[in-house]
Amino acid sequence: MTDHPGSDAITITLAAKGDGQTAAALGALALSDHTQSPQAPLSSLADAIDEHGGRVALPYGKGHCLTARNGSTITGMLYTTPPIRWLQGQSADQRARLTQALIEIELLAVFEPYRNRGIGTALLETAEHTARNAGTHLALAKIRTGAFPTMRWYRRRGYTIAGQSEPVVFRTHQGFASCDDGSDGHQLAVKALHSGSTVRRHTAGGATCLIVEHTTQPSATRQP
Ligand SMILES: CC(C)(COP(=O)(O)OP(=O)(O)OC[C@H]1O[C@@H](n2cnc3c(N)ncnc32)[C@H](O)[C@@H]1OP(=O)(O)O)[C@@H](O)C(=O)NCCC(=O)NCCS
Repeated sequence: MTDHPGSDAITITLAAKGDGQTAAALGALALSDHTQSPQAPLSSLADAIDEHGGRVALPYGKGHCLTARNGSTITGMLYTTPPIRWLQGQSADQRARLTQALIEIELLAVFEPYRNRGIGTALLETAEHTARNAGTHLALAKIRTGAFPTMRWYRRRGYTIAGQSEPVVFRTHQGFASCDDGSDGHQLAVKALHSGSTVRRHTAGGATCLIVEHTTQPSATRQP
């Protein structure tokens, strides 16, 4: 998908059949300081990748596992999913709209010896580019509370970090839907992927929320 000359020729591609075990090892690294279990066990993810490659069938859509390679060595991975937990709490109407609108960064990790070379950034940019081209408006990530370097890393890449339990309200022409971190020791990081979408903090009665507003239709259409 992406080649980054000048940065050790990092290549970002959709995971291939047979990449499952390495992807799961990276997934375990991403979860190593998380209190929360992944939406699907890593062994299932590994099996799905080994059998089908980086497009994984999930409730409400597909997961996408990107891998970073330095030469032929897998050095990093990023796994995106539909925001399944959020979608489960929505009405059927809202669910249909939000499934198209949001992407969740479920797992992101780079093997330690390969960090600080731009691999994480290349994975994130490729995932955002793909989501943007598919018409997705918002990227969401969950970051462990207290993981300040990770928060700073996302902030430097355009994400707004919600406070603990601070709701994120998604506002469209059709109405509102909101989610929060579930008070499970994580905070949400959000980024608008289109110029027609904005993220702003709103304060009312001493409480705050992040409002994501979508004002124009992106010109791109979702790919199959
Ligand atoms: C978070 C994580 C994925 C970042 O991966 P990474 O490949 O080290 O990220 P990058 O190299 O793109 O960026 C890290 C730093 O390296 C530096 N850097 C980036 N590109 C560089 C390059 N080409 N050359 C030299 N340094 C570079 C930058 O200083 C950057 O920090 P910044 O935020 O100040 O810009 C990685 O630290 C990791 O796997 N952490 C453990 C798992 C984890 O916490 N995952 C996130 C869960 S939400």
